[in-house]
Amino acid sequence: MIKIAASIMCANQLNLARELDRLEAARVDMLHCDVMDGSYVANLAMGPYVLEEIRAYTSIPLDIHLAVVEPEKYIKLFAGCKPEFISVHAEATRHLHRTLDMIREIGVKPVVALNPSTPLPALRHVLHEIDMVLVMTVDPGFAGQKFVTSVLHKIRTLREMCWERGLNPLIEIDGNINSQTIPPAVAAGANVLVAGTSSIFKGEDADYVLLVQQMRDSVKKIS
Ligand code: DX5
Ligand code: ZN
Repeated sequence: MIKIAASIMCANQLNLARELDRLEAARVDMLHCDVMDGSYVANLAMGPYVLEEIRAYTSIPLDIHLAVVEPEKYIKLFAGCKPEFISVHAEATRHLHRTLDMIREIGVKPVVALNPSTPLPALRHVLHEIDMVLVMTVDPGFAGQKFVTSVLHKIRTLREMCWERGLNPLIEIDGNINSQTIPPAVAAGANVLVAGTSSIFKGEDADYVLLVQQMRDSVKKIS
């Protein structure tokens, strides 16, 4: 079962309530919330205050992507948003195992994020403890980038690594996910798709119901 996670950073920030109504109508499965600190990535985006407002407005589950250095400092700040998932980058925290424990302690499912250049062994020893792997298909930080095709091989290898160990975490892909990139990525093993500017956030007149359906249809082409 494929899940669509709409990247709320790409929505119209002056009109978030209307955007959430449109995303609910389009039946997206999650809201992907990029938190950026200007240090791990050269951009700034979304903090706990706005995410708490979003939580209060909609029942769509939140998937918080911490693109920050030392994410362990911020995990408790996001407890009030009651997200389903919080992801941290493997190389952004000194003690990954402890950081994943902190996420679990606030009742949230922990996720490890890997940049296109981060090798899979970075998560080998925590794979059995996480609910999802966030495989970045662009370097994090900005919408509108080009898909890194070498990541397809990594997704396939990750899926095999999970099978061999009897594990079945969700595999989320983030960055330039659209009807061209979805079929090979899903064939490789991805099952959570972040929808950003390249698939659904195409302005006020965009029909989110149709665009989300197109994403789901592009998956059917491969099965
Ligand atoms: C990149 C972000 C993505 C991005 C997706 O750091 O995590 O969520 O905004 O948008 P597009 O589809 O433009 O790549
Ligand atoms: Zn993201």
